[in-house]
Amino acid sequence: MSRVRSVFVCRDCGAETLRWEGRCPTCGEWNSLDESVASQLDVRAGSRGTKSSRVRRLGEANGERSRRITTGFGDVDRVLGGGLVPGSVVLLGGAPGIGKSTLLLQLAGDLVGRGTAVLYVSGEESAEQVALRADRLGTASDVDFLASSDLEDIVSALHRSRPAVLCVDSIQSMSSRQMTSAPGGVAQVREAASALQREVKAAGVACFLVGHVTKGGALAGPRTLEHLVDVVLHFEGQRSGEHRILRSSKNRFGSVDEMAAFRMGAGGLEPVPDPSALFLSQETTETGGAAVAIPVHGSRPILAEVQALVARARFASPQRVCTGFPGRRLAILLAVLEKKAGVALGEQDVFVSVVGGLRMADPAADLAVVAALASAGADRPYPSGFAFFGEVGLGGEVRGVSHGEARLRAARGAKLTRIVAPAALERELTGNADVLFMRHVREIADLLEREAAP
Ligand code: TYD
Ligand code: MG
Repeated sequence: MSRVRSVFVCRDCGAETLRWEGRCPTCGEWNSLDESVASQLDVRAGSRGTKSSRVRRLGEANGERSRRITTGFGDVDRVLGGGLVPGSVVLLGGAPGIGKSTLLLQLAGDLVGRGTAVLYVSGEESAEQVALRADRLGTASDVDFLASSDLEDIVSALHRSRPAVLCVDSIQSMSSRQMTSAPGGVAQVREAASALQREVKAAGVACFLVGHVTKGGALAGPRTLEHLVDVVLHFEGQRSGEHRILRSSKNRFGSVDEMAAFRMGAGGLEPVPDPSALFLSQETTETGGAAVAIPVHGSRPILAEVQALVARARFASPQRVCTGFPGRRLAILLAVLEKKAGVALGEQDVFVSVVGGLRMADPAADLAVVAALASAGADRPYPSGFAFFGEVGLGGEVRGVSHGEARLRAARGAKLTRIVAPAALERELTGNADVLFMRHVREIADLLEREAAP
């Protein structure tokens, strides 16, 4: 039925080559090829057809689509696009110690509390360890548990106990007796994930897979893992801090920009229903370089403090370090500042970070980043009460964005009463005395001149 040959798979892009090379010929990444066994399946040989291979009208499949499993954590359901879809695979990624196992155990406990059967498999912790944690969290004592890292065991347990939801902690720890490659290796992770996916799809079980992330923040294992699953969730935050964010970067069943916020306490993770002021720093900064942004996540405006630091470069090529905001976007904004507003930071090291580990993907965060950079460059702080939103174009123009009213309300809720907004929203936001309209980024310099304490 299948012929076996050896191939080399790129850890990054998933491309296959027949020879080992130092550099992936497809994506150009160095040292990323791992040996793997490719089986060339003869798909015709066993083509008797299964239940799911019947061709039918899309309308017939509609009823199944609406059958979702809700978790009891309203915000998690929202991030998932309205609950778990049976037969789907959700990858939950996050740094070690961030709280993935805690979140999953709490979700499992809540699901069981609502009458949904859950099988929780851990390849990393023993039943005693997990039971201790469950006890401390005061939940999950009715969850079926299996300590195993063996795929065959897991699949047989899945068929025996027939849960509605399967939790696998973690995909990196799973291996199969039939595989010869190293556990945790790229080939192993990929095979394990696709085998599990096939099983849960056939059984109509919703499945959570915990995935570790590398230092760079990418999910460890092949990129193909992300293509394989239906939903990719990221659990983020600063390990030392108490706040955590759950967001999705891929969702076949919903929008990707919803988020859920949690506080990690002695009793586990507690949802934070109004996270809007979570990402403001508590101390008022006396030096320049800070500006409050109002990005929208899903339908919810969040206030987030952007901090910029500008220092004389020590090397010929200045450093650009950016966390919580796309690095390429920062490069563009620096060029716009230099060419269109006369704020030259080209020869300086520039560091930008967002307080609390939030990632801002909303283009409306541009204006706050520009404001923080300009303030850091001039070494002048804005007086307290300022917040910024607006997209910045290549010509330096400040572009209108959606959710103007909602952003305004969020800012006022946190006692921010000098809000800089795109001039394009002048009509929409008319009659709001606390709004300053801006047409072009060069006006930032005037604003600093006028408002900032020297
Ligand atoms: P864990 O869920 O084990 O992280 P991960 O699975 O992502 O590696 O969480 C580990 C951290 O969470 C640990 O440092 C302790 C902390 N924690 C609490 O603060 N309160 C709690 O109730 C629990 C269960 C864990
Ligand atoms: Mg864990």
